[in-house]
Amino acid sequence: MLVVEQAAFAGRSLYPEFFFAQALDMSSEGFLVAEHEGEVVGYVIAVIGQGGKRQGWLQSLGVHPAHQRRGVGSNLTARAEEFLAQEGQKEAVLTVAPENTVARRLYSRLGYTEIERLEDYFGEGDDRLLMALPLVEPTSGKPAIT
Ligand SMILES: CC(C)(COP(=O)(O)OP(=O)(O)OC[C@H]1O[C@@H](n2cnc3c(N)ncnc32)[C@H](O)[C@@H]1OP(=O)(O)O)[C@@H](O)C(=O)NCCC(=O)NCCS
Repeated sequence: MLVVEQAAFAGRSLYPEFFFAQALDMSSEGFLVAEHEGEVVGYVIAVIGQGGKRQGWLQSLGVHPAHQRRGVGSNLTARAEEFLAQEGQKEAVLTVAPENTVARRLYSRLGYTEIERLEDYFGEGDDRLLMALPLVEPTSGKPAIT
């Protein structure tokens, strides 16, 4: 997991190992990984939002550079949305760095729209764009997520 994080977010802010350990405890069903030949090559963390807004968050998404551009990021995002919809969330939201054109393109391609620019979101000068996608309510029971 850390290998993916360090490679995917090289040169940017990284989540430390203890973050992933705790995320597994706190959001285990929404913490999904993609594997290739037994190795984790990508991950997404989806979290139920607070305040009864039925807004689920994509907290983080990363794919190892050696496995990018093969649909892994799109698949992980789709599975995270599926999880959030099953949990009764009406909307998926996320923040992305304005300069992260690759991620912005991915999210736009998947139907997310830019809602607003959050100035100084992660500290002075560290803005984020808030993006959102309406979720479709699942029609029947809970499909298994692995
Ligand atoms: C963003 C990220 C998760 C995308 O993962 P991925 O597995 O490559 O994504 P996909 O293969 O599903 O790509 C889907 C679309 O995203 C866009 N995209 C992905 N990589 C791209 C690149 N290097 N250049 C331009 N567009 C790109 C394209 O529109 C692509 O569709 P296409 O290949 O049909 O043109 C991956 O690049 C990554 O881990 N980046 C670093 C971490 C990061 O920025 N995470 C998001 C934080 S909000």
